[in-house]
Amino acid sequence: MVKIGRNDPCPCGSGKKYKKCCMKAQQESQENLKDLYYKRYKIRLKEEKDLEEIRRAGDLVVRTLDMVADLVRPGVSTDSINQRVHEFTVDHGAVPAPLNYSGFPKSVCISVNEVICHGIPGEYELREGDIVNVDVTSRLNGYYADASKTFKVGQVSDEAAGLVDVAHHCLERGLGQVAPGNTVGDIGWAIQGYAEKRGCSVVREMVGHGVGFEFHEPPQVPHFGEKGNGIILVPGMVFTVEPMINLGGRELKVLEDKWTAVTKDGSLSAQFEKTVAVTTQGCDVLTPWR
Ligand code: MF3
Ligand code: CO
Ligand code: CO
Repeated sequence: MVKIGRNDPCPCGSGKKYKKCCMKAQQESQENLKDLYYKRYKIRLKEEKDLEEIRRAGDLVVRTLDMVADLVRPGVSTDSINQRVHEFTVDHGAVPAPLNYSGFPKSVCISVNEVICHGIPGEYELREGDIVNVDVTSRLNGYYADASKTFKVGQVSDEAAGLVDVAHHCLERGLGQVAPGNTVGDIGWAIQGYAEKRGCSVVREMVGHGVGFEFHEPPQVPHFGEKGNGIILVPGMVFTVEPMINLGGRELKVLEDKWTAVTKDGSLSAQFEKTVAVTTQGCDVLTPWR
């Protein structure tokens, strides 16, 4: 993101310095927007200093996912991945946000095959051909960042690989809509359009969310919807986009453990997630995994 310096030429084209021209008015309008978005939507817009902190948390989340990528192989238990994520997070001065969140018993969500999300790590050992989503949320210096990736365990079926590819593309399509003046509905519209064109379905019950000061904040960011609907995106908004894409039907059920969400029809499900900020220029990814 390009930040306008006080002494830079004003972007309005006056030829004057920014500080002598539009700087004050822009700061005031951002303050008004902050009040308006909180009053209207309970959305807490972030300032530059907040974005720096969330980005630091996000960098740690990315490094954690990189560490996990090297662990994922046949025979590795999801509990052992949980343990490594926990230790890595704590060793870097952060807190694994899932642990004890509304009673969640582990430090990371690990969702294998037909599990859509919120899988609880346990004794299950990964097998060749599995697809596994690992969803990491860290709190660093009081700020949260949230991201996840779906990994392929060894060689997977063409169907599974195709689904993972669709889910990844869905995230990128959604992020392609993140810019000031677009709406929350534009994001869901782009994701749903792509997923359904490729013969997959979009989970409705779980959505992206504001993040940063808390694990989950307003607004909700559905991964389906209509162009132009919903809240207008403005600079300072920070939220996740995290489409859950199923090979079969979109319906979900939650297991007895009250957390594990699986596809009703047992079909495979894949998910990718990033935390992003809306900027004056467009979109700034605060968890830049690749
Ligand atoms: N990380 C998940 C998300 O993307 C939320 C997990 S809640 C937990 O929003 F309690 F299961 F950790
Ligand atoms: Co999230
Ligand atoms: Co997450």
